[in-house]
Amino acid sequence: MDVSFIKSAFNVSHYPPPDRPEIAFAGKSNVGKSSLINVLVNRKKLARTSSTPGRTQALNFFNVGEDRLCLVDLPGYGFARVPLKVKASWGKMVESYLKYRDNLKAVVVIMDIRRNISDDDINLINWLAEYNKGLIPVFTKVDKLNRKEMQARLKALDSTFSRLSDEKPVLFSAQTREGRDEIWKRIDSFL
Ligand code: GTP
Ligand code: MG
Repeated sequence: MDVSFIKSAFNVSHYPPPDRPEIAFAGKSNVGKSSLINVLVNRKKLARTSSTPGRTQALNFFNVGEDRLCLVDLPGYGFARVPLKVKASWGKMVESYLKYRDNLKAVVVIMDIRRNISDDDINLINWLAEYNKGLIPVFTKVDKLNRKEMQARLKALDSTFSRLSDEKPVLFSAQTREGRDEIWKRIDSFL
């Protein structure tokens, strides 16, 4: 797959031209956003991955397939150790992106299958409805659970999630690549 990094941007005036459909990736710090993008585009380290949460603090734009589409790695939220000022600027940065980016078709919202859905996740999912953007929910790191643990987590998560959206979450692992084809299918359905 033909992919390249376009640029990092902190605000609307620095985004690349909105000349092709765009899909963004969001979720809590360290949840695996960059890893998921790398699996989708078959690159080991296109989007930077790290074990230090909160590394990706700007919006990172990637071009895919001869200007066919743009992927955006959004900064992670909910990192406990960032100062309040940084948390506030995250909210502003992401909300104005969702609000003003007309070529944005859908956001892949990535949640850790082992954790409960957070207020930040809920807030983001509500923004998507408000700004008329598609939602592709993903539960990631499924390789960390055995079959029995998985059943229990799905049961626990379903009651919260079904109240937020009718979209069924994709089960994904960056390690086994499970769920990759389904995420591409959902992305294509929004283009
Ligand atoms: P920030 O940009 O810092 O917010 O993090 P991120 O959401 O981009 O997460 P990143 O892709 O950097 O992954 C964080 C850590 O989780 C890394 O150590 C990854 O190797 C690991 N990781 C990501 N996805 C998976 C997965 O599906 N399974 C397992 N076992 N580990 C994963
Ligand atoms: Mg990242």
